[in-house]
Parts: sequence; structure tokens; C-alpha cells
Amino acid sequence: MQSKVVPATTPFLLGSPFLLALAVILGTLAVLGLITAGAAVTGVLASLAAAVLATRIYRRDVTAVASYIESLKESEQNHSLPFDASPTARLLAAGVARIHTDWLDKNGQLRSGLEANEQILEALHDPLILLAQDRGVIKANAAARGLFGDRMAERDLAATLRNPHLLGAVDAVLGGASSRSVEFSLPVPVERVFEARVTPYRGQGRKSTGTVAILTFHDMTAIKRSEQMRADFVANASHELRTPLATLLGFIETLRGPARDDPDARDRFLTIMHDQSGRMARLVNDLLSLSKIELDEHTPPTGRANPLMIARSAVAALELKAAARKIRLVLTAPERLPAVIGDDDQLAQVFQNLIDNAIKYTRDNTEVRVTLASTGGRRSKPMVSIAVADCGEGIARTHLPRLTERFYRVDPARSRALGGTGLGLAIVKHIVNRHRGQMTIESDVGKGSTFTVLLPVAADETLEADDSLRAGGSAA
Ligand SMILES: Nc1ncnc2c1ncn2[C@@H]1O[C@H](COP(=O)(O)OP(=O)(O)OP(=O)(O)O)[C@@H](O)[C@H]1O
Ligand SMILES: [Mg+2]
Repeated sequence: MQSKVVPATTPFLLGSPFLLALAVILGTLAVLGLITAGAAVTGVLASLAAAVLATRIYRRDVTAVASYIESLKESEQNHSLPFDASPTARLLAAGVARIHTDWLDKNGQLRSGLEANEQILEALHDPLILLAQDRGVIKANAAARGLFGDRMAERDLAATLRNPHLLGAVDAVLGGASSRSVEFSLPVPVERVFEARVTPYRGQGRKSTGTVAILTFHDMTAIKRSEQMRADFVANASHELRTPLATLLGFIETLRGPARDDPDARDRFLTIMHDQSGRMARLVNDLLSLSKIELDEHTPPTGRANPLMIARSAVAALELKAAARKIRLVLTAPERLPAVIGDDDQLAQVFQNLIDNAIKYTRDNTEVRVTLASTGGRRSKPMVSIAVADCGEGIARTHLPRLTERFYRVDPARSRALGGTGLGLAIVKHIVNRHRGQMTIESDVGKGSTFTVLLPVAADETLEADDSLRAGGSAA
């Protein structure tokens, strides 16, 4: 609503001193007889009338311009100029309108800048918290709310984060110290390590309330984990190499010394040395193939592979080893099986490692079943499954999640005694990942384990199984 504004003081008459002077001059002229008294009175009256008129116009203009300015005060847009004002007043109002338009533009720019900043803060991937001088949370972006909960606003930071080093750094910065970083961990729900950086912000301008602090967090969990993994890997690999190397050196010393002239001992030691060198060679080969597979892991294979052919060759290659412990390898496949997207050599390594484990860890005189099947259907992606089941002692549930880690063994001594490097399942996992497949492990302690690999089907093309493999035919 526009309010009508009347100037507080309006001069009684515009130009009163001028009127007074005019009256004195006309009176003097009349006294001197230069003009008649009537003419002098008429002159004064005419001037008086003109002054009254001018004063009215002045009052109307001032009122119009004042109420125009008043109308702009709370307004977001310019109003039309007072149309009944004098040209001078309209000029004045136009000047005010220009200043107002300018102010509106600057205000708009400032507002959209603030909105953009707000959105940038919200979109930041890392958590960010703005703290007031009293350590109260002024603002927490979406990532910070996601990490620490929604109820931090306007509360002391200590109500949410209790780490004494972090709070100490915040207090120091709010007390005038320069930026500092603190590493701390959040134990729940899963332990995560963060680097928190506290930076002071000293507001400028008349309304600034002293130093506030900007607290940003960078999640270091993945970096820390991979640093740890690398350190563990180097330690494990050197340990695995050092053991056979120490055995070799020990036997070489013995052969050069006490057993120099003992042909029986020499034969026995040379056999052990041969085994140990073989183990070192296997370890180096496995490490090389693991690092090569890891390098390629992000580029899926483009070729087509016949899972049945690969399974048959793997079974054939391990038949002798199985037969030595009277283990039967039974390969079962449906009549028609689709091709999979895959690299023949890598898939051969997957099948061999799984069947080799089944033979190593099953009981004598039992069966190892290798079963191929088509899975998936209209709803899920079509896959070929390859299941390798044994009748061994099985694996306790606690070990299952860690089985595919490098060098992880349920029974390290037994695995080493069987010539294992502890890298077989790690290699399988990385190859399966590269093939965009899946691996599941089911195990019943005392009964046996089944390792199943699922591989995506290449296309609609179906491969015919040959006669020997139909309906449960055994390859052994
Ligand atoms: N079929 C199985 N039955 C029982 N335990 C198994 C089976 N397969 C694997 N494991 C356990 O998982 C561990 C890791 O297997 P992995 O194949 O990676 O290593 P490995 O067989 O010891 O050595 P290698 O590198 O020569 O294969 C094994 O040491 C064993 O404890
Ligand atoms: Mg193995």
C-alpha cells in the first residue's frame, strides 16, 4: 500500500524574502511618487498570488516524489513515475528509478550467487561443516548430514564428533590459529578413516561476527586399506619366497658339507630341492599372472569361449592327479549350452584352479563333480554356470569371505604341504570379475564344498554337447 507523504516543513510562501524586497521597492517608488500607490499594491498582490501558486506546485511535487520513493522501498520492481508531477519532479523520480533498478540488478546477482554457492556446497562429495565462533554448527552440507546425521544444526560440534584431537584443532582455529589437519577414525557402522581439515574464515564487513571455521572431511579409508594391502602383499610374497629359498640354501650347505659323500642323502635332498624350486617357480608364475589379470581387469574380454570344451580340457589335464588318490572326475553338461563371452586361456585357468582345489581338499576315493548348466531367463541375464563340487571336509563359514584374498589359506601348513601358493582363488576371482561374472562358495563342514562360477552368455548361439557329455556322462 502506498502511503501519502507530506513534507514535514513546507515554506509558507516560496520566495518570501523576494516578496518582502519587492514590497519595499514598490512602497519606496510610491512614496517617491514615481508610481501610484494603487500600482504598488497591485504589484505586491500579483507577486503574492504567484508565490502561493508556486508553493502549491512545490508541495504537490515533493509529495508525489516522496510517495514514489516510498512505493519503491519494499518493491521488487520499478513503479511508473508520478504522471501529474512537474518536469523537474519527474526528472528527480527518473533518477531515483535508475538507482533503484541498479540496486535491484545487484541484489539479484548477489542472490543468485548465494544460491549457486549453496548448491555447490550441497553437491560437494566431501562432507563440509561451517562452525560459528562458539563451535555451534551453522551449516552442514548433504554429505556431512549423510555421515553424521541430520541433527547437527545449531548444536555444539562436540555433540556429534567427540574426537579430542579434532575438537582441539577446531578450538585452536576458532581461537585465531592457522589451518590444521587431523586424522581420525569413525568406528561405526564400519571403520572409516578421515582426514579433517579446519580452516579459519574471518568475515569482512560491519556485521561480521569474528572468526568462523570451515571443517572439511576427506575419506582416506580406501587409500589406507590399499596401503595396508600392498604392505601385506609384499610381506606375504617375500615370506612365501623366503621359505623355499631358505630350504634350498640349507640343503646346498648340507650337500657341500656333511652329505658331500653320501649318495642316498644327495638323491633325497635333490628331490626336495627340486620340489622347492618348483614351488618358487609356481609362486612367481602365479604372481605374474595375477598382476597381469589385475591390469586387464577393467577391460572385459571380447572373444567367445566354449565353456564345455574348456571344462573338458581341464578335467583331462587333472585326471592323472585325481586318479592317484582314486578320485573320479564327473563332468555333466546339458545337450545344448550357449557360448560365453570370454578369454579361453583365462577361463581354463579358472576351471583348473577350482578342480585342482577340489582334488586337493576332497577325500580319497570320492567324486569331484563338474556341472555345467544354463541359468537366467526372461527376467535375469542369461548365464552359464560351472559348479565344482567335492566331498572334502568343507570350509567353516568364518573363512568364506576371505578365501579369495591373496595368500589366505584355511590351513596354511596343509596348503603348503600340498604345494599350494595360496593365490589360486585370488586369480579365479580377478578373472571372473574381468568377465563380469560371479562366483559363489557353498560349504558344509564335514560334507564338502561347491564353488560355482557364473559367466554371461555371448549371444543366442547354442553349442551342441558331444555325445560323451550328454545327460551326466562322465569324462573320467
Ligand atoms: N574345495 C576346497 N575345499 C576346502 N578348502 C578349500 C577348497 N578350495 C580352497 N580351499 C581353501 O582355500 C584356500 C585358498 O585356496 P587357493 O586355491 O587360493 O590356494 P591354495 O589351493 O592353497 O594354493 P594354490 O595357489 O596352489 O591354489 C586353500 O588353502 C584352502 O584352505
Ligand atoms: Mg588352489
